Amino acid sequence: MDKNEYQNKIKRIIISEEQIKEKLKEAGKLIDGLYTDGTPILLVSILKGSFVFLADICRYVNVPCEIGFMAAKSYYNGTESNGVVKITMDLTQKIENYHVVIIEDIIDTGRTLSDVAKMLKARNPVSLHVMTLLDKPERRLVDFKADYSLFTIPDYFVIGYGLDFNEYYRNLPYIAEYDEGK
Ligand code: IMP
Ligand code: MG
Repeated sequence: MDKNEYQNKIKRIIISEEQIKEKLKEAGKLIDGLYTDGTPILLVSILKGSFVFLADICRYVNVPCEIGFMAAKSYYNGTESNGVVKITMDLTQKIENYHVVIIEDIIDTGRTLSDVAKMLKARNPVSLHVMTLLDKPERRLVDFKADYSLFTIPDYFVIGYGLDFNEYYRNLPYIAEYDEGK
């Protein structure tokens, strides 16, 4: 990709690094609060989008916790999901004896998480909670609500802090609106 075009598509920052950091502290405390009875906590990161969020939030967790990864792919035509969700990588551990917290980057139509949550619930964890960095409630097609969402945003296509457009921009340290104009 051309370097100028790459830069020009970053329309404006909507959530800064500082704003994210503030929320991470709160969110870490929430996870700590689940550890009441000595049941271990498993943070399940849904790849690829949540890899930055997971890496940051886990450093604000002070109780014993393990980390697991799953990959779900929602198929996109440009910036629009076509509704097909596929689990391309599953957890390697059993979850029966854990408080499971799903760590997701964004809830858009709700399809990915409603599928993933259903699947994990069927494996009988001690509890199942969903934490998402971003929520776009206006776009919901499947009724799904996270237990905790750090930021609610309008219907923008966003990039950065793990989120991509065609695999680019995941490494931006902030969250920006992607310029969909020509
Ligand atoms: P859902 O299944 O429609 O809720 O979509 C969830 C997945 O779509 C997320 O995990 C993201 O990977 C992707 N996604 C949805 N909205 C955006 C966006 O604004 N920017 C980048 N990726 C997005
Ligand atoms: Mg994605």
